[in-house]
Amino acid sequence: MPPSSQLVIVANRLPVDRVELPDGSPGWRRSPGGLVSALDPVMRRNDGVWIGWPGGTEQDLEPFEDDGLKLVPVSLSADEVEEFYEGLSNATLWPIYHDVIAKPEFHREWWDSYVTVNRRFAEKAVQVAEEGATVWVHDYQLQLVPAMLREMRPDLRIGFYLHIPFPPAELFAQLPWRRQILEGLLGADLVGFQMAGGAQNFVRLVRQRVGHKTHRDLVYLPDGRTVRAAAFPISIDTEGYEALAREESVLDRAEEIRSAVGSPRKVFLGVDRLDYTKGIHARLRAFAELIQDGEIDVDDAVFVQVATPSRERVEQYRILREEIERLVGHVNGDLGRIGRPAIHYLHSSYPREEMAALYRAADIMVVTPYRDGMNLVAKEYVACRYDDDGALVLSEFAGAADELRQAWLVNPYDINGVKAALLDAYHASEKDAARRMKAMRKTVRKHDVSAWATRFLDGLSDVSPHEKSPRPA
Ligand code: G6P
Repeated sequence: MPPSSQLVIVANRLPVDRVELPDGSPGWRRSPGGLVSALDPVMRRNDGVWIGWPGGTEQDLEPFEDDGLKLVPVSLSADEVEEFYEGLSNATLWPIYHDVIAKPEFHREWWDSYVTVNRRFAEKAVQVAEEGATVWVHDYQLQLVPAMLREMRPDLRIGFYLHIPFPPAELFAQLPWRRQILEGLLGADLVGFQMAGGAQNFVRLVRQRVGHKTHRDLVYLPDGRTVRAAAFPISIDTEGYEALAREESVLDRAEEIRSAVGSPRKVFLGVDRLDYTKGIHARLRAFAELIQDGEIDVDDAVFVQVATPSRERVEQYRILREEIERLVGHVNGDLGRIGRPAIHYLHSSYPREEMAALYRAADIMVVTPYRDGMNLVAKEYVACRYDDDGALVLSEFAGAADELRQAWLVNPYDINGVKAALLDAYHASEKDAARRMKAMRKTVRKHDVSAWATRFLDGLSDVSPHEKSPRPA
């Protein structure tokens, strides 16, 4: 029997990863992602259920509990991983929604698989959701789920949140299945985006392509229902990060990291999923040119780049990895000295403690995506700098730039501009850096992830004011 609940979260991934326990048997470990920390308190208060894919191709997994959270796994076959996840989600939608930085591929079999898998998620949610429940669907992998739910269960209150950018109409229009996606999303009562621009793109597309009446952030459907589209910029567990960054073991580790990289005067840091949207190449090139130009000396500064393995079977990601690794090899070969590489490159993922130690160890955090829904790394860095020191160089094209206005903002396509900002941050006075960091810390403390979840759920109960069931607590 699957569990039932008044609050159901539906996301492509479960908030746990499959791991091998010490005795060799399979177990689960909480994944480091921000979404679970955001939703953990709401889930607990409402005895919520989380539906998602555990990764891999294991079939017929039963619902289970992990640390008090009720989890319902959705299985994918090997073909579905290839067509729904790697294909339509990550080689069609991901590039279209990120400014076509990579060329999207269109394959009709991938679309069929996307429909099949979305239906499987919707059916699971229908089994689990009690009468009048709130179902909150997440991200671009599941855009058809809201309408599927609406059709099967008109009693539900349905929210959808897109974690990545929603593209301009001109790019979205390339999608052969553009109308189905818009109609899929319109199954929700509230469609949330990172930025106001995304919500506006969506409303405009609905008017143009589906022909519904719209006014400001509202869409009026022929059946009398109203759908609201609005911005809810996501954030992090600010307090949690700050507390972690103050732990003795984290501070010791930060010291250890600095001395392991040769105790330079300044440590630059980049932390990203290894993704072509992140602008890793641009920032490493800019740093290397500053050394070449004689502006920075390898005895004084080092760049630590953490690149977390991601979507490794998708061709564009393989190509990117080769490009970055070739560049790092060239830079270190040409500019490094014995015991003094210019760039420390780590292709690995680390737990939160290690991330916090890296943030503490870094004088200059460099976040230069070509396009990014929000970028939580930028906010995590700020949360960890409780002495108001450190500098953030941030792309204008990350959602975070809207809030973190005091960062050194850059256009990642403008390499000279990135170089100038890196150098400025490198030479910044303590006073200037502190003024900027203080202002940014105020922002991330006020707008943390629990404020985000509350705003979304409040917004959802306003658009869909059920009489029977109260909004989740
Ligand atoms: C982005 C997406 C998430 C996704 C994550 C990791 O943040 O918005 O939906 O889960 O990347 O990517 P992966 O493909 O490993 O789930």
